[in-house]
This record gives sequence, structure tokens and C-alpha cells, in this order.
Amino acid sequence: MAFNFDECIERRHSDSYKWQKYAGQDVIPLWVADTDFRSPPCIIEALRARVDHGVFGYGMSPTALGDIFIERMRERYQWDIKVEWLVFLPGLVSGLHLAVRALTEAAEAVVIPNPIYPPFRAAARSAGRQQRLAPMRLANGRWCVDFAGTDPALAGDERLLMLCNPHNPGGTAYRREELMQHLAFTQQHDLLVCSDEIHCDLLLTPGLRHIPFASL
Ligand SMILES: Cc1ncc(COP(=O)(O)O)c(C=O)c1O
Repeated sequence: MAFNFDECIERRHSDSYKWQKYAGQDVIPLWVADTDFRSPPCIIEALRARVDHGVFGYGMSPTALGDIFIERMRERYQWDIKVEWLVFLPGLVSGLHLAVRALTEAAEAVVIPNPIYPPFRAAARSAGRQQRLAPMRLANGRWCVDFAGTDPALAGDERLLMLCNPHNPGGTAYRREELMQHLAFTQQHDLLVCSDEIHCDLLLTPGLRHIPFASL
């Protein structure tokens, strides 16, 4: 399907958080992953049909979506998953909050790469969990977690490692050996992992393939 990416859609007068944040200032708001492109017709038509129906009671979990997701994981990553592993959530950030609250006790800490997309740290903060910051280091043009530099920050009460792959803001699409370093770190410190892979389809390096952390 051809798509007109040159069409400018004015959002300044809408409730858009992205555009309202710097309203009235000479700022082009590129601070958040919120594009100004119109959604594809198939999405708009499906939403319109749902709205035209006019009754918005409780819906069921979409079974077809589970099957599509399983097939996509198998086809793209040779990763076999089971439908009972899937939990549909309204967005990824709610998943970060859920993971922190479900997987750690009040006295346990969360290891979080730094810098990182702010909601990771907000999830730990709002749950009242201690944060141990794992510094990101630039080496050979890649921002990666400096695990040796992380060890001094640990106190032994850590339970969960937050992983952002590809990393925001570093842009790093982690390679297998880098993910294996994460795995070794988590095994060494007996950590669970919360892996945010929302940007896995945005790989810009030809031939590079995303590796779901859980597939290791
Ligand atoms: C790493 C990362 N996770 C999550 C999100 C947002 O996820 P959602 O809108 O599904 O809560 C973003 C948006 O920029 C992001 O960069």
C-alpha cells in the first residue's frame, strides 16, 4: 500500500501531549516516539466500525491475536511460545509497572541501566523500590551496559534487571554476545529480567536480527 508520508497533519490544536508540552515556544517537539502520520486506513476503518456499533461493554481477549503473535515469534525469531504465556496489556509502560510490582518484594531493589527511557525508573520509584543504576558506556560506537561498573552499586538485595532492547536512548540493538553478558549477570546475581523490546522492528543495520531475551 502506498502511503503519503509528506502529508502534514496539524495537531497543535488537539490534546496532543507531544505538541502541547512546548506550546507557544519555537520548539519542534521531537522528544517522544509519537509520529504525526495518519494511521493506515485498515486501522481507521476497524475503529470506525467499532465506534458505529455504539456499545462498549467488556470485550474478550482476542484469540486470533494470540495465534498471530505466536506465529510471528516462530517465523521471525525461531522462538516457540505458548498462548498461556501471553498477557495483553493496554501499553508497554503499564507492563513495566506491573513487572516491578509483581516480581519484587518491597525490600528488593531493581537494577536499571542509566540513562534509560524515563518510565523504567518511574516504575521502580512509584512502587517504592530501591534503584541500582547500571551505567551505560560507549565502546566501539555502541552504548552498552557496563556490568563491571555496575557491581560496586549492588547491595545484594537486587531482584530484577530492567532491559531495554533496542536501548532507548542509546539506540543499541543488542547482539547475541551482549545479551549473553546480560544473562550471565542475571545468573550471577540471581535476578529476574523485565525486557522491553517495543522497538524490535526498528533495526536500521542491514542483516541485523532482533533476539528476544526470553528466547535465550
Ligand atoms: C523503550 C520504550 N518503551 C515503551 C515505550 C512506550 O510504550 P507504550 O506507549 O506502549 O506504553 C516507549 C516509547 O517511546 C519506549 O521508547
